[in-house]
Amino acid sequence: MRGIIKEFSGVRALDGVDLALSAGQVLSLCGENGSGKSTLMKVLSGIYPSGEYQGEIWLDGALYQVNNIKQAEQAGIAIIHQELALIKELTILENLFLGDEISQFGVLNHAAMYSRAEQMLARVGLTISPDTPLVELGVGQQQLVEIAKALAKNARILILDEPTSSLTESETDVLLAIVEQLKEQGVSCVYISHKLNEVLAISDVVCVIRDGLHIGTREAQGLTQDDIITMMVGRELTELFPYEEHDIGDTVLSVAHASAWHGSNRHIKLVDDVSFELRAGEILGVSGLVGAGRTELMQCLFGSYPSRYELELTLDGQPLVIKSPSDALTKGIAMVPEDRKRHGIVPVMSVGSNITLAGLASFGNWLGQLNEAKEHAAIDEAIARLRVKTASADLAIRSLSGGNQQKAILAKCLLLNPKILILDEPTRGIDVGAKYEIYKLMFELVKQGVAIIMVSSELPEVLGISDRVLVMHEGKLKGNLINDNLTQEQVMECALRSTTEKQ
Ligand SMILES: Nc1ncnc2c1ncn2[C@@H]1O[C@H](COP(=O)(O)OP(=O)(O)OP(=O)(O)O)[C@@H](O)[C@H]1O
Ligand SMILES: [Mg+2]
Repeated sequence: MRGIIKEFSGVRALDGVDLALSAGQVLSLCGENGSGKSTLMKVLSGIYPSGEYQGEIWLDGALYQVNNIKQAEQAGIAIIHQELALIKELTILENLFLGDEISQFGVLNHAAMYSRAEQMLARVGLTISPDTPLVELGVGQQQLVEIAKALAKNARILILDEPTSSLTESETDVLLAIVEQLKEQGVSCVYISHKLNEVLAISDVVCVIRDGLHIGTREAQGLTQDDIITMMVGRELTELFPYEEHDIGDTVLSVAHASAWHGSNRHIKLVDDVSFELRAGEILGVSGLVGAGRTELMQCLFGSYPSRYELELTLDGQPLVIKSPSDALTKGIAMVPEDRKRHGIVPVMSVGSNITLAGLASFGNWLGQLNEAKEHAAIDEAIARLRVKTASADLAIRSLSGGNQQKAILAKCLLLNPKILILDEPTRGIDVGAKYEIYKLMFELVKQGVAIIMVSSELPEVLGISDRVLVMHEGKLKGNLINDNLTQEQVMECALRSTTEKQ
C-alpha cells in the first residue's frame, strides 16, 4: 500500500500511509484509538472501493483495484471485523452460509451445509451445534464463528481487526495457533490488537501508525512493549495504573442470593446464589473466565437480564427492587455494558445524542421542553473530558473508531451522575493511553464517593486498580479478596481451587 490517503468529510483519517506485507508474514498494526488502523484495512479489503481513497495498492506486482468486499475476497483478501457483524436473529449455520448457501437443484442442502459448518467450527475449537441460534452464544463464541467464516474463504491475506478482544485465554490460544498454521501455509496476516503481549508473540513485523501517519515498521524480534507504546503515543508511558489513595465508606449496595437461569434451559444456573456488598468510594473488581456468570450477574443488578433471575438488593440499608434499566438509572445505578453494539449505542444516532440519550430528562424544563443549549454544553464537556476523538458531536456514532465509541458510552453514563457505576469490560478495545485516562477518571469518581463495580478479564487491570476482587467461577462466587498486593497467582489459585472442589 503506497501513500494511502482517506478523508471523511474533510477530516483526514489516513494521511499517506505505506504498508508492505510479504507472503507468510504476520504484520501487527498498532496505534491508538482513532489512529486509522481499521480504516486502512477497510481500504485493503474493498469496503472503501477504489476511487474512494488516494494512493495505490499493489498485489503480486499488479495494481489492485476492487469495488467491493466480494471482489477483494476473490483476489484473496478477507477481513474479520472489529465489531461483530453477524446477524443475531439467525442460527450459526445461517450466518456461516449467508450469501453462499449450498443448494442442489435450487433447494438448500441443509445436510451438506451442516457437516461443512461442523468442520468450520471445529477448526476454531467450537463444538456446538451449527443450528444453535446466534443469540445463545456469548460474545467470544460469536467472534470465533466470525473467524471460522473468514477462514473458510481460503484467503491469502487474512486481516484480523481486534479478534481477541472478547476471547478467553484458551480461545485466544486457539486463534494464535491458527495464525501460526496459516503462516506455514504461506498465508499472510495483518493483526490488529491493543494487547501488546499478543502482538509480540505472534508477529514478524510491527507497524505503528499515529493520527493517520506511518510512524515506523520494525522487526518484532528484539522489540519490547515499551518500544511499541512509545511509538504509539509519542512519549514514554512509565506507569500503566495510576492508583490513587481514596477513602472507602459504608456499604451502599448489598446483593444477596443472586441467581439467574439460562434462557432456554431452565435447569442451568448461570449465576448461582451470589452475595456480596459494595461500599461507597470503592472499586470492586470482578474477575473470572468468560462464562463465569459475571455479565449475567451485572445484568441482574441493572434489571437487564433477559430471562428468569432472582436476588435481594439493599440500597443504603433500604430494600431495593429494580424492574428495568431505566428504573435502575433513576435509582442511581448506571452500567456500561459488555456488548456495546447490542446494548450500548444507537449506531445511526449522533455521538451527541447517544451521550445524552439516557439523561434526556435532566435537560428539560418544567414544561418538559428540551433545553438544547444546556444539552450541547453537557455533550461538549463530556467529549472533552473523555477525549472522545470525533470531528463533531453531530457525526453518527458508528463512524467513530471502536475505542472512541466505548469512551462515548462511558460519557453517557457519567452524565447521569450515578451513585453506583457498573463497568463491564470497560477498557476492551481501548488503547494504552486511553486506558490510563479511564482509570484516572475512575479514581476521580470514587474520590467523590461513587462506588464502582468493574468486570474485567484482564487480571493486571483488576489487580492494578481494584480495592477488592470478587472471583467468580461457573456462576458461583469463589472468592472475595481484599487487594492488598494480591497476585495473579492468588486469584488464579482461587479459580483452581474451585475446579478441584468440583472433581
Ligand atoms: N465512516 C466514517 N465517517 C467519519 N469518520 C470516520 C469514519 N470511519 C472512521 N472515521 C474516523 O477516522 C479515524 C480513524 O478511525 P479508525 O476506525 O480507523 O481507528 P482505529 O485505529 O481502528 O481505532 P480503534 O483502536 O479505536 O479501533 C477516527 O477519527 C474516526 O472517527
Ligand atoms: Mg479499529
